[in-house]
Amino acid sequence: MEQEFIADIEGFSNLGAGIAKQDGKVIFIENTCPQDKVKISVKKQTKTYASGELLEIVEPSKYRVQPKCPMQKVCGACQLQFIDYKYQLRLKKEIVEDYARNLKGITVGDTIPSPEIYGYRHKIQYPISETKNSKRILAGYYKPKSHEIVNIKYCPIQPAICDEIIDYIRETAPKYGIRGYNEKKHTGILRHVVIRASHLTGNNLVTLVVNHTKIFDKLKEFANDIYNKFDEISGVCVNFNNKKTNLILSNDTKLVCGQDFVEEQLCDITFKIGSNTFFQVNPQSAENIFRYVKNYIKNNFNSPIILDAYAGIAAFGAVLSDVCKQAVSVESNPESIEIAKQVLKANNINNVKLHNTDTAKFLEKEVINKNKQFDITILDPPRKGCSKESLDYTLQATKSAIIYVSCNPQTLVRDLDYLMSKGAKVDFIQPFDMFCHTYHVESVAIITIER
Ligand SMILES: C[S@@+](CC[C@H](N)C(=O)[O-])C[C@H]1O[C@@H](n2cnc3c(N)ncnc32)[C@H](O)[C@@H]1O
Repeated sequence: MEQEFIADIEGFSNLGAGIAKQDGKVIFIENTCPQDKVKISVKKQTKTYASGELLEIVEPSKYRVQPKCPMQKVCGACQLQFIDYKYQLRLKKEIVEDYARNLKGITVGDTIPSPEIYGYRHKIQYPISETKNSKRILAGYYKPKSHEIVNIKYCPIQPAICDEIIDYIRETAPKYGIRGYNEKKHTGILRHVVIRASHLTGNNLVTLVVNHTKIFDKLKEFANDIYNKFDEISGVCVNFNNKKTNLILSNDTKLVCGQDFVEEQLCDITFKIGSNTFFQVNPQSAENIFRYVKNYIKNNFNSPIILDAYAGIAAFGAVLSDVCKQAVSVESNPESIEIAKQVLKANNINNVKLHNTDTAKFLEKEVINKNKQFDITILDPPRKGCSKESLDYTLQATKSAIIYVSCNPQTLVRDLDYLMSKGAKVDFIQPFDMFCHTYHVESVAIITIER
């Protein structure tokens, strides 16, 4: 039977839920914050923890603020938007500290805030469906733990123009007979809208992800209509994804009108970003991270040789090219390597080499066999972190320092633990707020190797 009671929120989980305790057992309650007194009902019990639902706020925490977004409670995207921003930064530091608790001798810095806390998100990916009876198009984020779309008309964390573009797509698609996707039946055409918005130029690249294999006349007319409606749209692409998959984009994208990229800048280097190119979603916060890494290298090395592993479009390689003798950027996605080539050419950079391969394979073949040594290795892996194999090779291939840039403190700490067990030294982790109002936190750790 469901149990209801009044609880004090005493802590905050690494996944963004408030924590209460009952008879020593931890209860996680979403949409609550430390120092709330709340009425909850316990929904799920396991031997070690329980999860509850917020029924009523009895006494609000002093850290609560009015969220800007009217849909904050129903949409799963911004778990922390009802919490004062300064306190969000403190909670993120505590999240990193909590993961790093068992690493000896490590301190965690104060989270460096994002320069903008609204309108910061420059990559938008809305799933699309339609209403059952009236067949109106729905576009927005999924409700937490479901595939039910919250139809979002206003999202304060993205540039306002993106709301306008998506609304136009929502209203105009039916005129061209473009139906919203039905995930269960695998029917309908439009399954996602992806926008890459440029902070530098204000331009937007729109990609219509379709459950289809080619561009048909009405789809082409629809794409042209969207392109012609907004001066701020620099191009419209179609991505063909007719598989039953949770992957948003396939590898097959065609440009219908305009250009298939937008331009962005980091530390005075210009980057071209396509529909499927990895680029940091918050360019201003990314600038803080790149400057932090660059300053460390400038202050501690003289013309080093750098390995830029998990390189994307060689953002680190390009940004560090003027403080290094040579950089080698390694990336597994061929599309990103193609864009990296253009980035290097457009910025007249001649001392960055590109390798389109897996990091561990590169390290094994190119580095260990040839006994090459890099002064510094930058590791910027996806959320799952690095394999032990990559870390072992990195240690063997690096003379002085590994700079680990991470979007997941859990795998960062796991990998730091492993590196430390092999004799590497880490004493500081610097968190950055890249994803304001969510529990996600980006971190940089500098690992030194004594030979
Ligand atoms: C977090 S992104 C970092 C990109 C880049 N450093 C930046 O700041 O823009 C991780 C990148 O690693 C690439 N990647 C994933 N697994 C890889 C692997 N095993 N070897 C090489 N690259 C990989 C992904 O395609 C992605 O571009």
